[in-house]
Amino acid sequence: NNHPLVFDASFLSHQTNIPQQFVWPDEEKPCSIELEELAVPLIDIQGFLAGDPGANQEASRLVGEACVEHGFFLVVNHGVDAKLVRDAHDLMDDFFEQPLAQKQKAQRKLGEHCGYASSFTSRFSSKLPWKETLSFKYSPKHGADTGYSTKVVQDYFRNTLGDNFNHVGRMYQEYCEAMSTLSLGIMELLGLSLGVGRKYFREFFEGNDSVMRLNYYPPCQRPDLTLGTGPHCDPTSLTILHQDQVGGLQVRVDGEWRSINPNFDAFVVNIGDTFMALANGKYKSCLHRAVVNREKARKSLAFFLCPSKEKVVKPPRELVDTENPRRYPDFTWPMLLEFTQKHYRADVNTLEAFS
Ligand code: SIN
Ligand code: FE2
Repeated sequence: NNHPLVFDASFLSHQTNIPQQFVWPDEEKPCSIELEELAVPLIDIQGFLAGDPGANQEASRLVGEACVEHGFFLVVNHGVDAKLVRDAHDLMDDFFEQPLAQKQKAQRKLGEHCGYASSFTSRFSSKLPWKETLSFKYSPKHGADTGYSTKVVQDYFRNTLGDNFNHVGRMYQEYCEAMSTLSLGIMELLGLSLGVGRKYFREFFEGNDSVMRLNYYPPCQRPDLTLGTGPHCDPTSLTILHQDQVGGLQVRVDGEWRSINPNFDAFVVNIGDTFMALANGKYKSCLHRAVVNREKARKSLAFFLCPSKEKVVKPPRELVDTENPRRYPDFTWPMLLEFTQKHYRADVNTLEAFS
């Protein structure tokens, strides 16, 4: 056949015959009918961020309920500038609309987590995702005490893509700083909701490196055959996602796929496997996926908070007693990552098998 080795957006957007590597098996194909919307709370966190005790109680109650059910909730009045969010979507085009060779300057290397990735063919590949991504590390460490640069995102863009990407790097630097602040605020809410106090999880995650991923899903003539992101549980602790107005995020709850509809003012927050373990299984990390659109390219921005490499992940004492014995063994983030990659399943959370 005359398919290229690498499928980038400019190739995929024009395909009427879907290359067979992108056609998912029948039982995993997305349904073409519109899905019922998932009932996720829309949580106004302004009062919480301002330290209003009444607002704390209400916000942490809503977070707790959502996390017991499926681990997904929306936050509004989160203090992140709307213009920054808009720029973070708009400037994705500066990168993804370049010719492939330019994007490949940031090519992700085998076994690495950062860089540019697109679907590529090998003789055995199947179930390829209909997307391209750019991932990079964010580190909040203070340059003065560590000797590291405080502007790792900005430096990454300049060093891999050149001076033309200076303004793009500067903006994503700022976006990550806002996400880092927000993620620690949400950790405080999670701590309150679990009854272990505001500071417990903030202190566990403060200063940790995070990963940011830009997802670019080209339009697809047959969105009924393909998936932008296949079903998975996030192995991370917390994910803060912003999706554009196209829509496509779906969550599996009680054996059914449900959609989370776009809301520009809101961030979609979900807990991942390591937080499920920190909560001793009380909070759920759920399967989710992203479908693609026939007419429009879809964009989403994902910020992942992870434990640092050496930290032992285990629940605080308050969450373990005779009625609630330890559900998972102690582990570190690299151990869990290796396990979930090896035992990946499209239908259940693999953490249950981790012991
Ligand atoms: C993901 O969960 O990895 C992507 C979700 C999305 O793009 O909406
Ligand atoms: Fe995810």
